Amino acid sequence: MNAILVASNRGPFSFTTSEDGSLSMRRGGGGLVSGLSEVARDLKVLWVCAALSDGDRAAVRQAPGGRLDQAGYDTGALRMLDIPPATFHRAYNAVANSTLWFVNHLLYDTPNTPHFDARFRREWESYQSYNAAFALALAEEAGHGARVMVQDYHLTLTPAMLRVERPDLRIAHFSHTPWAPPEYFALLPDDVAAEVLEGILGADHAGFLTARWAGAFMDCCERLLGAGVDRVSRTVSHAGRTTRIGVHGLGVDGEALWARASEPDVESNMAALRDQVGDRKLIVRIDRTELSKNIVRGLSAYREFLGAHPEWHGRVVHLAFAYPSRHDLPEYREYTAAVQRCAKEIEDEYATEDWDPLILNVNDDYPRSLAAYRLADVLLVNPIRDGMNLVAKEGPVLSPDSALVLSREAGAAAELGEHALVVNPYDVTATAAALHRGLVMPEEERVRRGARLAAAATALPPHRWFAEQLTALQ
Ligand code: G6P
Repeated sequence: MNAILVASNRGPFSFTTSEDGSLSMRRGGGGLVSGLSEVARDLKVLWVCAALSDGDRAAVRQAPGGRLDQAGYDTGALRMLDIPPATFHRAYNAVANSTLWFVNHLLYDTPNTPHFDARFRREWESYQSYNAAFALALAEEAGHGARVMVQDYHLTLTPAMLRVERPDLRIAHFSHTPWAPPEYFALLPDDVAAEVLEGILGADHAGFLTARWAGAFMDCCERLLGAGVDRVSRTVSHAGRTTRIGVHGLGVDGEALWARASEPDVESNMAALRDQVGDRKLIVRIDRTELSKNIVRGLSAYREFLGAHPEWHGRVVHLAFAYPSRHDLPEYREYTAAVQRCAKEIEDEYATEDWDPLILNVNDDYPRSLAAYRLADVLLVNPIRDGMNLVAKEGPVLSPDSALVLSREAGAAAELGEHALVVNPYDVTATAAALHRGLVMPEEERVRRGARLAAAATALPPHRWFAEQLTALQ
């Protein structure tokens, strides 16, 4: 039986069925997966995740008990859950991504949304069943006294459900997102808000990326549940149990990142980008096309910068990589279109025969992203709210002499803010000014700041981040 288990919606691998019916496997995306993949393998963790696509479902159906590693795939110990597609869709799209994600990132346009009606209640029931399916699988797989690390907003109810089944287990929950302040969290129907908080409090240890998000969670527990909160020892006591709250600021593994970024496919992408932009200065951003990433205001800031600084025309290029994300949600499709419109306007206004001021790329390409990091002069990371933002940490590692323009609302600002050019993400004019400041920053200052950014970014690499949480469960 397994001694350490991880549960998350997205797993380390995904599958696609090709035309001849064969399955091909690729690495899953997103901050959570990049943080956990290596660690899970090294520690022989059993990873439980959901089948997300038809390809995943096809793979699960060939695997005994959903164990892909036992069906001959080189995945590390991995069990994928084949949750009925309609249930999965409501739990993942309607509740996790359209409700809990929106609440914790403060994304609602409140005059119109949210709208918690009878339909939401059906979606919520699906979210409950989806969480219960994870709790059941974990209860089946965990050895006596095992440690179970439940990840993220998709699985807020699982810790409490699992505790009922298996009181012998030591359970942790970790939030990779921000947490909303109580007055905003209270947009949720009262019983739903309470169930989410009590679900996480079913864990022995609830982890967050920054003290700010941990504080917001404790505030919610106090205000909405009437729980006893001790902010010094970081504990929440409720319904006869006490949960410890931990702050673990996930960082990057600098050596592994450099090793990957030195491979030939990255080098050839660097050469191709250099061919395309010449010796012009580069402002780089790399994001999923995600509402919280604030890409449109970032582009507007670049536009305002070009308007205010004609001396930079022809001498700078903005590389904006905005990779597809959550296209099942209409808000995301509209947002992608808005990003493309804004980019087109900038081109129409400023492009000349021999200067393309903006290169927008919407196709996911990891080696090209690494190449862009290495070439960056200024890295723009301006989310309206973000749990951590690993781009802000990877960039300074791969481009130690670049300047970082960083939103004060990104979790990363807690550790990197002192050495970055910190902006209010809603203030387009201030962001434009910061881009300019980054471009004209003296070499000596960039290098000095860059070294400190890289040190802070690598302070808690995934292995240590995970080990800290395991220790906290002992
Ligand atoms: C964020 C979440 C992760 C999630 C990732 C990608 O980083 O915290 O849990 O995996 O976004 O989102 P997706 O919906 O594509 O899994």
